[in-house]
Amino acid sequence: PRVGAAPLLAATYVLDDANGLGREFDGIGAVSGGGATSRLLVNYQEPYRSEILDYLFKPNFGASLHILKVEIGGDAQSTDGTEPSHMHYENDENYFRGYEWWLMKEAKKRNPKIKLIGLPWAFPGWIGKGENWPYDYPDITAYYIVSWILGAKQYHDLDIDYVGIWNERAFSSKYIKVLRHSLDRLGLWNVGIIAADGDWSISKEMIVDPYLNEAIEVVGAHYPGTKTVQNAILTGKKLWSSEDYSTFNNDVGAGCWARILNQNYVNGNMTATIAWNLVASYYEELPFGRCALMTAQEPWSGHYKVESPIWITAHTTQFTQPGWSYLQVDGHLEGGGSFVALTDGLGNLTIIIETMSHNHSKCIRPPLPNFNVIPQRATFYLRGSFYMVQTLQVWHSRLDFESGNSSLFQQLHPLQVWRGRFSLDLNVDEVYTLTTLKTGWKCGYPEPPPPQPFPSIYSDDFNIRNPPFSEAPNFADQTGVFEYFVNASDPGDHVFTLRQVVVQRPITWVSDADQTISVIGNFKWVNMTVTCDIYIEKPRDGGVFIAGRVDNGGIYVRDSKGVFFWVFADGTYRVTSDLAGKEILMKGLAGVRDNAWHTLTLNIQGNSASGLLNGYPLWENVTISKPGNGWAALGTHSFEFAQFDNFHIEAC
Ligand code: GAL
Ligand code: CA
Repeated sequence: PRVGAAPLLAATYVLDDANGLGREFDGIGAVSGGGATSRLLVNYQEPYRSEILDYLFKPNFGASLHILKVEIGGDAQSTDGTEPSHMHYENDENYFRGYEWWLMKEAKKRNPKIKLIGLPWAFPGWIGKGENWPYDYPDITAYYIVSWILGAKQYHDLDIDYVGIWNERAFSSKYIKVLRHSLDRLGLWNVGIIAADGDWSISKEMIVDPYLNEAIEVVGAHYPGTKTVQNAILTGKKLWSSEDYSTFNNDVGAGCWARILNQNYVNGNMTATIAWNLVASYYEELPFGRCALMTAQEPWSGHYKVESPIWITAHTTQFTQPGWSYLQVDGHLEGGGSFVALTDGLGNLTIIIETMSHNHSKCIRPPLPNFNVIPQRATFYLRGSFYMVQTLQVWHSRLDFESGNSSLFQQLHPLQVWRGRFSLDLNVDEVYTLTTLKTGWKCGYPEPPPPQPFPSIYSDDFNIRNPPFSEAPNFADQTGVFEYFVNASDPGDHVFTLRQVVVQRPITWVSDADQTISVIGNFKWVNMTVTCDIYIEKPRDGGVFIAGRVDNGGIYVRDSKGVFFWVFADGTYRVTSDLAGKEILMKGLAGVRDNAWHTLTLNIQGNSASGLLNGYPLWENVTISKPGNGWAALGTHSFEFAQFDNFHIEAC
């Protein structure tokens, strides 16, 4: 009895399977990409890299994800970087670029049942024959996407389960039908189409176009705010929140995630929820830093952090599987909050309850209408086949915003069910899982190494014969794609280099720069000396740069400022304070030519910069005001081939 306390709000809820079940559950997942969000993960040393992957994918261990969605790289900027395409050019095919293949295999190794989804954000330029549009030649676009699916199987033995259309951009009914037809013709009947990864509006067309409806397996909406629309329900299709969350991964992020994992079904009939993004493995100062289930953004130190959203995920993922069914319940708690109940149809029952308060569960978008949550007593009646349940395992989290001492995914004493009935006193900002399954597990690896800044002296000669990845560690491409390259006929010094390989503006997702650029290092760097051997391949107006104090990337890459030292094939040089090359600080003659190696050095100290060519001063005492700090970078004047070698930074 709560002596002296106000009477607790008490309400009863019935869980019954006698009149059939609710929708089939399709899983909880996360996105790698959209874009380059796993970029730094691949360069972690063991055992840390495997530990991170275990926390994400290993069943009954951590997040134990059911679904992995990856970007089908399109050579263009897709939020935190570019991801390489499997077809840079029309006659080009390579299924070993980037890290998504590797990531999918690592996920499958841990959980062979994990579902895989591929979705493009952007496409190489040739798909649109020069137009910034992927639907003028639907057969070409379908061929391109189907090739990715076939390549996944042929080179990596990966079965792709679902494929999408064009992330958060227009869809084309014609293209969707062509894609379905192409898949079927190749026997890829098991690959389902998700559409259209934006709002719900495609459902309006689906209900008047039976062929379109037939072609689509899942209606996927992004950031639905836990709600769907009548037309979506009328399609009769599975409804998914195919991208959601995107919230900073502190306890409010965990609260957001807990609330939407339940309420996407309770309010919106959605049977899968997919978080953007899987793991924050990109420089934190890029857009949406740490908006991921966990953080692993320091391959140089081995430091990573298992954030609270991982344990919120575990509350659902460890106790249900795709193929289970939701029970038919209203799912709203009378004192605020929600619950869902799921069964495998074989006697197992899992109930997940959340009581997240408004201010502790705001997601990045959409705005969250006001609501109230109060402490309450919930009494559950188990009916139908669940009447026989006698004991439920209890897993509990409490997000504590006062002390900051949240308790995450703790196993409590099992709960005895008496004649199909039990009660639970719920506080605010809690998550409970009550389940007949005894497989739950909260593991832990020893603490990883402490955080460290990016090394202040750093070199890469790109001399690697069979690299496990196509990209050099720590370079984060923001426009264009930079790959390891072999000059087979080089006399010796520059056999192994780094090459920019995108030569036509892609079908973009956002406004990529007109130049290409890859950033590296510590965003806090102020003073630095950057040295790099460069090789311009494009005659006449070809050009390359090295840069420091670069202050922007991701979707804002076009507006990057910094100190940029350019040389051009026409023999001139420039110093500009922007990537666009509009703010010229200095220019003159350098004598650089195309198809020859030169060494550039950029030295930035305080408010002054100087540049060297082949070790000799070329320009000096150029006054710089803004920005005061930023990454180092290299890149090209346009979408053109160029090579880089013997990159070296000393910074502080
Ligand atoms: C989504 C997009 C993601 C990422 C995210 C950031 O709309 O699909 O790639 O940009 O927003 O919130
Ligand atoms: Ca080299």
